[in-house]
Amino acid sequence: MKITDVQFIISAVRPEQYPEDGLPEIALAGRSNVGKSSLINTMIMRKNLARTSSQPGKTQQLNYYRVNDMVYLVDFPGYGYAKVSKVQREKFGVMIETYLRERELLKLQLLVIDIRHAPSKDDCLMYEWLKHYNIPTCVVATKADKIPRSKWQKHMKLIKETLGMDREDTMVLFSSESGLGREELWNIIAERAVT
Ligand code: GTP
Ligand code: MG
Repeated sequence: MKITDVQFIISAVRPEQYPEDGLPEIALAGRSNVGKSSLINTMIMRKNLARTSSQPGKTQQLNYYRVNDMVYLVDFPGYGYAKVSKVQREKFGVMIETYLRERELLKLQLLVIDIRHAPSKDDCLMYEWLKHYNIPTCVVATKADKIPRSKWQKHMKLIKETLGMDREDTMVLFSSESGLGREELWNIIAERAVT
């Protein structure tokens, strides 16, 4: 995918703030610090347009990035970060749930998982929730550069099994560090975004 134009559009917290131009949306969910914002930067070939941090809890709103006037990538705050206050956690929860329940322009949800670890309880809940609402999902196993290539398949299998993945849902091996999986993920996104 050739990136010709990327714009940060808005940090939304409420539906009234979502863009109104009707472009398809691809959203990213996952634990705090798993690498959602980094994944966006890798996809759009920018170093730090989506703000990242080694500290969890960096992304706090639904951040909209418009790519090639074709699709939005929507970055979510991460879940499962204990240091975020209970009130803030609930706010994030409501914000994400509202989006997932109401946003008809959502064409594909990326569920980002750290390939090194089995999915957490929260990851499993998120996946179940997405399935309950019939949202097409692609699981992205990221930070692949952190484990030897010889272990990739075994870890992917564990993720699939722990989530109890549906056959129709795809999974992509990814690394924001090396760019592994970038083209494959763009192909999956493009396929969803045009239908
Ligand atoms: P929140 O906004 O807190 O939910 O986190 P996030 O999921 O957006 O994570 P972020 O992209 O900010 O990345 C967290 C840390 O992981 C940063 O230090 C990144 O440099 C690192 N990181 C992300 N992806 C990769 C990857 O594929 N490989 C390696 N080695 N490091 C990564
Ligand atoms: Mg982030």
